Parts: sequence; structure tokens; C-alpha cells
Amino acid sequence: MSAALLEQLTLKGVTLPNRIVISPMQQYMAGRDGLARDWHFVHLAKMAAGGAGTVFTEALAIEPDARVTYHDLGVWSDDHLEGLKRLAGGIADHGAVPATQLIHAGRKASVAPPYHGFEPLTEQDAAERGEKPWPVVSASALEANPGWPMPRALTRDDIKRLLERFALCTRRVRKAGFRVLDMHGAHGYLIHSFLSPLSNQRDDEYGGDLEGRMRFALEVAEAVRSEWPSELPFFYRLSCIDDAEGGWTLDDSVLLSRALKQHDVDVIDCSSGGLGRRTTPLIIPREPGYQVPYSARIRREAEIATMAVGLIMDPQHANAIVEAGDADLIAIGREALHNPNWGVQAQVALKGLEAYESDWPKSYGWWLYRRAKSLEVSRQAKAP
Ligand SMILES: Cc1cc2nc3c(=O)[nH]c(=O)nc-3n(C[C@H](O)[C@H](O)[C@H](O)COP(=O)(O)O)c2cc1C
Repeated sequence: MSAALLEQLTLKGVTLPNRIVISPMQQYMAGRDGLARDWHFVHLAKMAAGGAGTVFTEALAIEPDARVTYHDLGVWSDDHLEGLKRLAGGIADHGAVPATQLIHAGRKASVAPPYHGFEPLTEQDAAERGEKPWPVVSASALEANPGWPMPRALTRDDIKRLLERFALCTRRVRKAGFRVLDMHGAHGYLIHSFLSPLSNQRDDEYGGDLEGRMRFALEVAEAVRSEWPSELPFFYRLSCIDDAEGGWTLDDSVLLSRALKQHDVDVIDCSSGGLGRRTTPLIIPREPGYQVPYSARIRREAEIATMAVGLIMDPQHANAIVEAGDADLIAIGREALHNPNWGVQAQVALKGLEAYESDWPKSYGWWLYRRAKSLEVSRQAKAP
């Protein structure tokens, strides 16, 4: 039996072994130095051994102020290279394509990690844990939510400097051995703040009409491509719609996707929302696959490969999305935290018990196949 979810996909010079991708997920487990630790290695190697064809690390901050929290991974200095090499190597050694993402958190930087409340840092955090708030930046001086820190609007010189940093950090992740790179252009972070008319009220060439608001996102794509080899795939994560009236729309995302394709982006990674709070108002009910329609429309109308993400938990559902032509890749987030073997379990769900022996790590598969067979026999014996 063939299943579209389990087929290879070749993007530029890289063949992804199947369509299952572990979505970028921050672990909030780094120290102040942004260096990768054993936790990151174990977490990612486990996801790779669990059968996903492509495994993303969490977003890597391009400079210290670009972090969401003090505990994010960074790529702002050569000191990060060794740890990142270990992560990319660990993913590849366990059977998946190593992928990573770059971020500047913009006006949603300077936040406490989820296990300390996930709200903007305050002087109390500074007193209790030494986590001093830092100044945040954005397209315009408009706060992400009432009471959140007021960002400073980036100047043209700041923008120029950040573009250089995006290029420099791209060079580092290439050196570290990653084979897929995603740009975080979603969830209210810096790039998204330029795209949305709700957060961008600039009156220079980086604001105003759609063309102006898209300028920074496209310049970032250009900066990355200047350092990211043409044979390696480049993904771009978008919030395909804003979580508020009068914001960025799906029509805008189609137009931006066409423009990104012209800038040699290979895959649009279709997320949504997050311009303000991270728990967004439910304009779209949160049900399994709620963001798939964005992926489907961008894939058809911008004629570019897409990745669907968001509450995709069932292998049959994931397979149906790819089979319907609604996405080329399926990113699994929280379900993979729940079950890092989601990928190999999907092989069994879609191909049958034999997949335990053909697709699982061999130290597990032999045992699990026999356990499943003996349970099958006992079920049949009990059947009326
Ligand atoms: C713990 C956690 C950390 C996340 N960190 C990132 C991140 O670094 N970059 C990103 O683009 N999205 C991040 N996300 C969003 C996920 O990639 C994904 O889009 C989201 O969880 C929806 O997919 P799911 O329903 O399968 O979890 C994170 C999500 C979680 C749960």
C-alpha cells in the first residue's frame, strides 16, 4: 500500500525521506549563552529516530535581543557553532534531514519562559531570577498587547544591520551542517510586525501599501539566499492570516508567497495568528487541521510547495491532506512532544504491522512486531 505521507520529496538538491516534519519548537532550556545542551540533543535525536523525515530545531535567535526568552538557542556568535553542529549531526545520524529556523522576536522579545508565566519580563523577574527586561524593537512604536513593552521603531540603519545579521547567521547554520532553513516570518515576531497593517504604521518605504510592508520580508529572503546555497531548500513561515480584524489577510499571503517564490523560497510554512497575544482569539475554531485551508490556497494560487501545521495528530488525516494536494509536507508540533515516535507509528498505521520491522529502529521493531502479532492472535482467538 502506498501512502502519500510516506513518499519522498526532493526539494532542490535535498531528498526528504517522507513528508513528516517536526515543527520548530522552542524548548526554553538553553542558558543565557544560547548554547545547545544535552536536552536539545536528546530531544531532537529522539524525534529523528522516531521517523520524521525532517526535524527542525527550535528557532535560533540572530542576536541576544532577538530572543523570546533568556533560555532560547542562539546563533549570534561563532561560539554557538559547536553545539549546533552536534544537533545537526545528531538529527542526521538518526535518519532525518537536519533543519533549523532563524528568528528575530521583535516586539515579542523579553518574555519569561512558559514555566515562569510566559509574560513580558518585569523588574520582579530581574529581582527573583536575574532576568532583566530588555528594550524591544518593531516596525513601529506600537505595543503587542496593552501593557506590554513599547517597542522602538527600527531605523533604516537598524534594518540594514539586521539584514547583514540574517546573512551572517545563515552562513553559520550552513557551517553547522543544516540542510533546510526556515525563516520565522510569523507569530507577531519582527518580520510579521512589518507585514501587518496593524503593527506597521511606518511612512517610509518599509510601510504603507502591501508592497512597502512586504519589503523587509523580501529583503530578509534575499539576505538569506545570498548565504544559503542554491541547492538547499529554503522555507518561510507565515502567519497566513492575522488574528484580528483589519489585519494581514490570506489574499496578502498569496501575493507574498508569489513574491517569495521569485526570491528563491521553496516552501511556504503555513501558520497563522500571534500578532498580539500568543493565545489568539478564535477567529478560526481550533480544530484538527484548522490551518490546512491556508496551505491549500497558497499551494494552488502561488504555485509553490507548502507545509501544513496545526493540530494534525492522526496519520490518516495527515496522509489525506497530502493526498488531496493541500500540502506537500505535514509539520507535527505538540503531538510529537506527546509522542516522539509519531513518524514510525504513522508507518504502521498506513502500511501495516510489517512496518515495525521495515521502518522502526531495529532495536525496537523486532520486539514490537512480535508483541503486535501475539496481541492479534489473542484477539482472533477471543473473537466470537
Ligand atoms: C513548545 C513550543 C514551542 C514552539 N516554538 C516555535 C518555534 O521556535 N518556531 C516556530 O515557528 N513555531 C514554534 N511553535 C509553534 C509550532 O511550530 C506549531 O506551529 C504549533 O505548535 C502548532 O502545531 P501543533 O498543533 O502540531 O502543535 C512552538 C510550539 C510549541 C508547542
